[in-house]
Amino acid sequence: MPRGSSLAVVGPSGAGKSTLASILGGLQEATEGSYRFDGQEMCGLSSLAVARFRADHVGFVFQNAHLMDERSAWRNVAVGLVDATLARPDVEQRSREALALVGLASVADREAAPLSGGERQRVAVARAVVKRPQLLIADEPTGSLDQKTGQAVLELLFSLTATGATLIIASHDTRAAALADRCVTIVDGALAA
Ligand SMILES: Nc1ncnc2c1ncn2[C@@H]1O[C@H](COP(=O)(O)OP(=O)(O)OP(=O)(O)O)[C@@H](O)[C@H]1O
Ligand SMILES: [Mg+2]
Repeated sequence: MPRGSSLAVVGPSGAGKSTLASILGGLQEATEGSYRFDGQEMCGLSSLAVARFRADHVGFVFQNAHLMDERSAWRNVAVGLVDATLARPDVEQRSREALALVGLASVADREAAPLSGGERQRVAVARAVVKRPQLLIADEPTGSLDQKTGQAVLELLFSLTATGATLIIASHDTRAAALADRCVTIVDGALAA
């Protein structure tokens, strides 16, 4: 996939969409096959090398935002920088910038708990992109949102490809397939024609 492009992975429940997304993001090891990232073969790397790949290059968004409710929005976003060697003021600044990017600069100092489902998911997107990953993996990112809020989150995710992030989105949401540069259908763990 060219940098900044987008791919939707669709298919029935249990087809293997999440499995593919987690292999591409380095969360799970492939049992066979080959996958290259930036020219580098990923299959067979040591777990340390895969962890470094994830930390350096991959941002994840899941169906649930998984925020720490008692922390402010910007501190939740800062979790995405946990592996970076940044000074504390830079961590805060980068986190606030990422919140601004998702349209939530105004809630940066608010606790996450009372935020709406859509706002929580946008905080999760900010947390995924705060380290400016080359690869953004979203697995059912609209699965817990209503139609309208889901559409806004999808548009946000796809808009982030303009910053150079390559987006891979596994989803039942047909709108994701419509927005993506390319769409593949998986059935029983294999690409369907
Ligand atoms: N590590 C694993 N080892 C063996 N089987 C697995 C493993 N991970 C997932 N599976 C199985 O692989 C199949 C695909 O699961 P996966 O979660 O990728 O599907 P999915 O397409 O994301 O489904 P959904 O639309 O319900 O999210 C399922 O039958 C699942 O039980
Ligand atoms: Mg899944």
